[in-house]
This record gives sequence, C-alpha cells and structure tokens, in this order.
Amino acid sequence: MSDYSIDQFIADATAIVAEGLDNRQVLQKMVPLAKRVSQDTSWVQLDFYDCDEEQGFGITMLHVADDESLSVQTVCWLPGRGVAPHDHQTWGIVVGLDGVEKNVNWLRQDDGSRPGYADIAAHHEVMVGAGDACSFLPDDIHSVENDGDKPTLSLHLYGAVLANNERSEFDPEAKVQRPCPKRVRKAAN
Ligand SMILES: [Fe+2]
Repeated sequence: MSDYSIDQFIADATAIVAEGLDNRQVLQKMVPLAKRVSQDTSWVQLDFYDCDEEQGFGITMLHVADDESLSVQTVCWLPGRGVAPHDHQTWGIVVGLDGVEKNVNWLRQDDGSRPGYADIAAHHEVMVGAGDACSFLPDDIHSVENDGDKPTLSLHLYGAVLANNERSEFDPEAKVQRPCPKRVRKAAN
C-alpha cells in the first residue's frame, strides 16, 4: 500500500492552488508531491493504458476542479507515437509513471507578432522515466515522443482544463502556429 494516495495528492494539489500563488511558486510546491505520488503506482488502473489509435495516445481524466483551476490526468503514449509541439496556456507538470518518454522543449525565435506564424527551435531534450518530473509555464512549448516498444504512462497536472483553453500547436518546419487540436479524453472508471 502506498503511504500517499492519489486522493490525498489531489487534495494537497487543490490546497496549493487555493493559496493563490504565482505559477513558479505553484510548480515549486507541486513538483515534489507529483514525484511522491509517482513512487507507488498501485492507484494506476489497467484501463489508463487504453489509447485512441488515431490520436496515438490515451488521456484518462482523474480530477477536474469545479472552478477548472486544477485538472489531473494520466496520458498513455503508444510506441512510436507522440504529439507535435504545443503550449498549455497554464502551468503544467508531467511526472513519469511507467516507461520512458522523450520530452523536447522548444524555444520561440520570432516575436509572435505575425498571426499564424511561429519560428521555433528544439532547445532541450529530456528522457522522462518513472519518477522524473518536468514542468511548464503557460507559454512554454514542448513535444513528446515514445521512442520505445511499449506504451508509456505519465501523470499530468494543469492549472486549467486544457480542453477549454485557447492554446496552440506548432509546425516547426512550416513555421506555423495554429489552434491546438482537441484531444480525445475519457473519464476514469
Ligand atoms: Fe503538453
């Protein structure tokens, strides 16, 4: 049995959000808790690994705050699949639960003044394994890939409900910024 349940984690995360801190302070307080809840994954259910084949990954919503100030979800990535660079327009934390995901951080080169245009360059690549965390500020841009031969699973926390956020996806080769596609999500059983 874990000494730190997913329910306790969500309660603690809710309390941190209620403190009204700035994004960096939220991340600072939240990351150690996210790492802690990733240590014992007995709360992970088999159906968290269910993926949408077309999308290449599967999202299971674990918690959404009534005021949408916090959402908690798992994401399972199919082998060889990933997602294009995107932002979140809120703070975010990803902590690995199973397998290793390649996370690439991108830096914007242009000033963002031309609608639909974005020049981004890959900046930093980090392999996120079980217990490893990475965090994001609202305008940070990242992409994810599962280079392995098995599905991976990670826990994701955001300071909003991403489905309701106006956020962007980027095509680095075409230098395009466009609205982020709506993801397929399912509720936890
Ligand atoms: Fe993301």
